Order: sequence, then C-alpha cells, then structure tokens
Amino acid sequence: MMIIKRIKQVKKIIGLKRRQGKTIGFVPTMGSLHEGHVSLVRIAKKKSDFVVVSIFVNPTQFGPSEDFKRYPRDLKRDCRLLKKEGVDVVFFPPVKEIYPSGYKTYVEVTSLSNVLCGASRPGHFRGVTTVVLKLFNIIKPDIAVFGIKDFQQCAILKKMAKDLDLDIKILTGPTVREKDGLAMSSRNIYLSKTHRQNAAVLSQALRWAKKAVQAGVHDADGIIKKMTAMIQKKQGKIDYIETVDQDSLARVKKLQSNVLIVLAVYFGKTRLIDNIVV
Ligand code: PAJ
Repeated sequence: MMIIKRIKQVKKIIGLKRRQGKTIGFVPTMGSLHEGHVSLVRIAKKKSDFVVVSIFVNPTQFGPSEDFKRYPRDLKRDCRLLKKEGVDVVFFPPVKEIYPSGYKTYVEVTSLSNVLCGASRPGHFRGVTTVVLKLFNIIKPDIAVFGIKDFQQCAILKKMAKDLDLDIKILTGPTVREKDGLAMSSRNIYLSKTHRQNAAVLSQALRWAKKAVQAGVHDADGIIKKMTAMIQKKQGKIDYIETVDQDSLARVKKLQSNVLIVLAVYFGKTRLIDNIVV
C-alpha cells in the first residue's frame, strides 16, 4: 500500500494503472477511521480494480467555531486498517497541497446546501463539494463511495456529479452502527460516558418513527413531537428533526413510504446526525 502526499505523484501512479486498463475506486475520508469507513472501502474493492482512499481533514468545510483543530487524527492506525483491507493507495495531502496560498475557487450546489445541516453549518457543504470535486479531478475515479449516514452530503454530491456531467458513478453504503444502535462517527469519541449511553436514543427514536409510519401514522408533526420528547428525556439538544423527500430534501408533511427522517442533535458540545428511510 502506497501512502502519497503529493498531487503530482498520485496522478502519475493512478494514470499508470488506468493505462493498464484498471478501473479506479475512490473513498474520500477525513481519517480517524472506523467500521463505517471500512464498509465503504469494501464496496470500492468489490466494484473496482484499484482502490484509493484519501485522508484529508478539510478546513473549508469547518465553521470558524467548529472542531477543525481538535478533529481526531491518527494516520498510523488508519493506515494499518486500510492495509488490512487491501487498499492500494492512501492519498494524504497536507492542507497547502490542496489549498496553496492564493486558492480562490469554490463549487456550490445551491438550495440543497442551505437546508438541514447546511442551515446549521453555513458554508459546510460548499467546503465539501469543493474538496470532493478537487479530489475527483486528482484521482479521476470511475466510482466513488459515500455513506448514507451523511444523507444530505450524498444527495448534494450526486447532484453535483449530474449537474457537472462528471463521469463518476457515485455509490452509497448503509450506515454501520455500534451494538446499541448509535451510528459510528469519528466524533463519538468526544462524548462523555453518560452522553455516549444516552446517544443510543437517536437510533431508537428513528426506529420508533419508522414503525409508527408502517403502523399507519402519517402525521409528521406528531411523530417529530414524540421523537423530540424521547431525545430530550436523554439530555439531547435538538438541532433539527425533519421529514423530507429523499431527492429534493423538501419537507414532507404526510408521511408515506420512502420519506426520509433526518435529525441532528447535540449531546454536550458534540453534534450527531442520523437518518432513516421509512
Ligand atoms: P468522514 O466523516 O471521514 O466520512 C467519510 C465517509 O464515511 C463519508 O462518505 C461518510 O458518510 C462515511 N461514513 C461515516 N460514518 C459512517 C457510518 N457509520 N457508516 C457508513 N459510512 C459512514 O464525510 C466526510 O468525511 C467528508 O465530508 C468528506 C466526504 C471526506 C469530504 O471532506
């Protein structure tokens, strides 16, 4: 497994593989890897010949008061994990390699980027789309794999690929969870012991909502009210709970099958997200 820091070098190696007729699979990450990331790598392995994983904590997707500086970083551990999975290249660029001084270009998927997480984190998705497009241009993958846990991110990146005619197939992988149902996240390590235990309520509330809809409850407001109470009882501070259309992310008031329930909740200072399709 090669660990490469420079754009020029990674382009050279991938170009060589492409000329040999190999298809390229790509999994972008910010490192501090867990089983969720690994599951995406396994999809990429299955669907392509040569797998590249990027590890880059992207400063442009963090707000000024967010956790860019303290975001967990552990390259050695990450590389051990990726080597075991048979990854071919880890692309690990320094910030200056991606954003040299004088960098000026950003890409934005309008409207989809301003709702839900985008409303709470202004500029976040502009940072995500910018870095992902830049990484796509460097790696030029045939397929790229993203986790449904970040549902809005997937919807935005698919829209970007469509609108900009990218020849890249965007694949998605299901959310990998801890035993108690909490969606795995690099940020879970910030949680205190009590918050960690209480955070299991997020997946419980989502599963409860899905069952309620399947049992014939269609009133979104009623469901959201009950979920809010369940989560608040466990000290969760609601950022949002919404029922939305999977493609447009527009609010849906009458719950039927295929509607997405999404939430963002703070436990202490840690903001967690999760979702379920009902
Ligand atoms: P990061 O949070 O490191 O996540 C990398 C990929 O792993 C994303 O596609 C995310 O949806 C997926 N992922 C995270 N937790 C998961 C889980 N529990 N189960 C399955 N997949 C999971 O998302 C980012 O990085 C960045 O925004 C990035 C796309 C790399 C751009 O900087």
